Amino acid sequence: MDNLVYIGMSADLIHPGHLNIISRGRELGPVVVGLLTDEAIASYKRVPLLSFEQRRAIVAGLRDVSEVVAQETLDYSANLRRLRPRYVVHGDDWKTGVQQATRQRVIEVLAEWGGELIEVPYTRGISSTAIQRSLREIGITPEARRKRFGRLLSVKPILRALEAHNGLSAMIVEGATAFDDEGRALEFDAIWLSSLTDSTAKGKPDIEAVDFTSRLQTVNEILEVTTRPIIFDGDTGGRIDQFPFMVRTLERLGVSAIIVEDKIGAKRNSLLEESSVHEQDSIIDFCEKIRAGNASRITADFRIIARIESLILGKGMEDAYARAEAYVAAGAGGIMIHSKNTSGEDVIEFARRFRMAHPDVPLVAVPSTYPAVSIDALQEAGFNLVIYANHLLRSAYPAMARTAQRLLREGRAEGVEQDIISIKDFFKLIPGQ
Ligand code: SPV
Ligand code: MG
Repeated sequence: MDNLVYIGMSADLIHPGHLNIISRGRELGPVVVGLLTDEAIASYKRVPLLSFEQRRAIVAGLRDVSEVVAQETLDYSANLRRLRPRYVVHGDDWKTGVQQATRQRVIEVLAEWGGELIEVPYTRGISSTAIQRSLREIGITPEARRKRFGRLLSVKPILRALEAHNGLSAMIVEGATAFDDEGRALEFDAIWLSSLTDSTAKGKPDIEAVDFTSRLQTVNEILEVTTRPIIFDGDTGGRIDQFPFMVRTLERLGVSAIIVEDKIGAKRNSLLEESSVHEQDSIIDFCEKIRAGNASRITADFRIIARIESLILGKGMEDAYARAEAYVAAGAGGIMIHSKNTSGEDVIEFARRFRMAHPDVPLVAVPSTYPAVSIDALQEAGFNLVIYANHLLRSAYPAMARTAQRLLREGRAEGVEQDIISIKDFFKLIPGQ
């Protein structure tokens, strides 16, 4: 068609800005919308709230849209060369920021057949990012939150989770944003409910002394003020006859996954120096626990992720690997390979081998003792979830201890003022003050 118009969009939340672009397109010719897939959107910003099929249904229903095709990458080239439109219409906001290079490519590719880029002034005051922020205030249902973890796993090459131990720290996880060197937005995909930091924050050792009821109180506190998926550190999961109750409760609340470790008896934290105190479960019994957990779920969205302690306990790579195979066969919804090696070489070796045999099973790394290994290196090895398991509480502690000491030593509070948040900003942290 001579005057075909191509418009690429995410259309997660359709607003008047989108309609404006589409109606400008329709003035020029029949409009084909290149609807970005979840993977394409995830490559540069937040994974959409609506699925591709939901977004497709909405866009296809718009009066001025003739056809909807999938655009599988942020880059338009493949679709443009296939459809050879006369025009591409886009908001002029992409002249700067993460889409700049994409825009340049569009201009170059259109030039191959004399096509033209038409830019419509960006509709100020409306952005899907602002709408997303409002949605966060409205909240999320347990079911949508639970499901979102699987969705993120399927569209992003690697997810980031960060520890939280109360409402405020979880709000920090949820609100943190940064940009990478290419201008892509980064954020934490999930909240890790660490047994270590939940216990430490309560002044208790990480030995399952903080019982499940008390852990649930932390979960509820966090659920109430966030929308991101939650991954619960289930320690050993307790006895096999207790484990299904834990699974049921967490699933009902909207938690997405529990990670259970293959240890038994008196649990001690894996990172402790004296590893002799740990006892590992047998493969047979731990597989039974995974099966019991899976059987007690109501939906397949809730994942039982099996955590392997073989490298921590010095049992070696072959033992770790044999366990991974058995746990996957028993129905584990992911594998976490733990280690306290400081180079990270062992978990990387494990990941390469595991990934070859199991391309689709989520693989989790917890780089507490190997902090120099980057997320890119972990992704390259085959991991698709990185958990920063204790870093918020570890960063808060020295700051609080220093302030306490200074108040004593200095006899007035003036000195610490410059290092702490102002009362004015402190009020702003929590909406509704
Ligand atoms: C936790 O964060 O509580 C964990 C990870 O289980 S570790 O502390 O490394 O055992
Ligand atoms: Mg733990």
